[in-house]
Amino acid sequence: MSQLKNFDTAFTLQGKTALVTGGSRGLGLHMATAFLRSGCSHVIVTARKLEGEQGIQQAVDKLNRLPGIRGKAIGIAANVADSKDIVRLVGEVKDIVGSKGLNILVCNAGAAWGSKFEDAPPSSSVKILDLNVRGVFELVQKSLPLLEQASSRDDPSRVLIISSTAGNNVPHVGEHGTIMYSASKAAANHLGRNLAVELGPRYITSNIISPGFFPSKLAQGLISNLGGIDSLSKDNPMRRLGEPEDIAGVAVFLCSPAGKYVNGVEIAVDGGARLSAGRMSRL
Ligand SMILES: NC(=O)c1ccc[n+]([C@@H]2O[C@H](COP(=O)([O-])OP(=O)(O)OC[C@H]3O[C@@H](n4cnc5c(N)ncnc54)[C@H](OP(=O)(O)O)[C@@H]3O)[C@@H](O)[C@H]2O)c1
Repeated sequence: MSQLKNFDTAFTLQGKTALVTGGSRGLGLHMATAFLRSGCSHVIVTARKLEGEQGIQQAVDKLNRLPGIRGKAIGIAANVADSKDIVRLVGEVKDIVGSKGLNILVCNAGAAWGSKFEDAPPSSSVKILDLNVRGVFELVQKSLPLLEQASSRDDPSRVLIISSTAGNNVPHVGEHGTIMYSASKAAANHLGRNLAVELGPRYITSNIISPGFFPSKLAQGLISNLGGIDSLSKDNPMRRLGEPEDIAGVAVFLCSPAGKYVNGVEIAVDGGARLSAGRMSRL
């Protein structure tokens, strides 16, 4: 028999502090929910919009009503593509977490653009690269003191970058081409690998989650342009698109004690769709 140390708590996030960008809806809200349900003491969600149906406040209200949680959700409005806002955000996070520091940083907010190659304006490339790449770099850089404060050899802090399977394949060309989005996610993947080596010695792991299609505001236009959920599900080896639990489970694993020696990997959460290059594939 092997002695597994603390295996009964290997998948919990008891007492951890987390910041999730783009946490007001979609994948960010799924992960924020999972973090609170796994025991986090503070889950800070950020997005640009504060009020209204899609704003942070409604997300925070929902999160704080989750049954059985001990921690709390807190919302901060910030644009994580803007350098000044990133500094302000990190300052506000510091005020909230205090001497605990920040255990988990999830860089999830992302922008996409779909159009014919000839029609993509320069502004679409700037927006995509600013948020999906430069903003991620700057947020990790400015959060470093807080991440280091919480980290130790046996309990490293965690950075998760939410990328896309589009960072490894060429998903859409032609009428609804997503070339710069795809290139930005390839850059985000390599940013994550660089961070793993740069920050590993400071006891911070950096990993990449690459989702396939999950119904969300960001994905809905592309999903409908490609024939809708039912049609895309038929193309997926698992015969469905992603569901909240699929991303939640992987994010919790990578941030839990069980994931503390995993550094610099990319985990695709796509049902295997990225591998499907057969004649019938449209992905
Ligand atoms: N859903 C999919 O099928 C899919 C597939 C592959 C990869 N992904 C990736 O998963 C991540 C989340 O996507 P999602 O589908 O969950 O999208 P979503 O439902 O549209 O949510 C995007 C979130 O990011 C926030 N956001 C957007 N721009 C921001 C900015 N400049 N600063 C701060 N927050 C910002 C949004 O709030 P505000 O608009 O209020 O700022 C919202 O909270 C993205 O990185 C995306 O590329 C998604």
